Amino acid sequence: VGIVRRITEPGGAALADYVRLTDMQLRMSTEVAAGLFVAEGELVVLRALAAGYEPRSVLLSTSRWRLLGAGLRAEIEARPGLRVLVGDDELLREVTGFHVHRGVLASFHRRPLPDAATLLAASERVLVLESVNTHTNVGAIARSAAALGMDALLLDPTSADPLYRRSVRVSMGQVLVLPHARLDPWPAALGQVRGHGYRLALSPTGERSLDTVVPQPGQRVAVLLGAEGTGLSEAAQAEADERVRIPMGGGVDSLNVAVAAALACWVIGRRDPTSRPPGTSA
Ligand SMILES: C[S@@+](CC[C@H](N)C(=O)[O-])C[C@H]1O[C@@H](n2cnc3c(N)ncnc32)[C@H](O)[C@@H]1O
Repeated sequence: VGIVRRITEPGGAALADYVRLTDMQLRMSTEVAAGLFVAEGELVVLRALAAGYEPRSVLLSTSRWRLLGAGLRAEIEARPGLRVLVGDDELLREVTGFHVHRGVLASFHRRPLPDAATLLAASERVLVLESVNTHTNVGAIARSAAALGMDALLLDPTSADPLYRRSVRVSMGQVLVLPHARLDPWPAALGQVRGHGYRLALSPTGERSLDTVVPQPGQRVAVLLGAEGTGLSEAAQAEADERVRIPMGGGVDSLNVAVAAALACWVIGRRDPTSRPPGTSA
């Protein structure tokens, strides 16, 4: 096993990647500047490794270190230079600011994002997010998009960071698998999406019902989704070929953006309109 260091003090450079993980403002500035992100839980850490992200270190509770699953243990053993930090639950709580109940954290190097034009050229079905600034929504959207046949996620400059710990966790690591890129400047960069294919603006007041949309095999489709409070801006809607609604009843005026995204992926992610979505059987 790599360099296992037993940690007994909350300070020190070795723990710097894990300090005050619940302080979102602090983390957002330090993580991007340092080029790192933090993954939480054995499964998500394994997914990050499988996706080829390079680990900086692993931080484990003492009890988890003893009971570590064979998969993660093997990955650690395969990296003799990896720094493995082990400390008691209380120490982990003191460093991170929360009870790390799964007892597994790992920090990884970020990779440069692909540019939007390259990603669009390589993709057929994409989601485009405008001002979706809640990490949990971005994570939930990525998980649905990966599961339901979408190829990529594009985000305006104000949408939340897909690699922030909570996005990564809610996506169950799918943000590390589904390619994503930023569209910047906004809304001008939406022009790149225009060149890419058919654009649907998802809005509760859309003229067309989602269930009448049947993407054709090989057809490129981009689905635009907007912010929780304000929805898609006029500028973004003006870039769409059609405005599409998910019909609702019960006097409800809109769905949560991640729920709307999942329903849209269910319809748009199908490659063959007569087939079922990926992963399902008749
Ligand atoms: C909470 S909604 C925003 C509500 C906002 N008042 C509006 O009118 O768009 C957040 C995003 O989810 C999507 N959305 C939510 N409910 C929808 C529905 N019934 N039909 C289509 N899109 C919906 C849209 O993309 C919307 O911008």
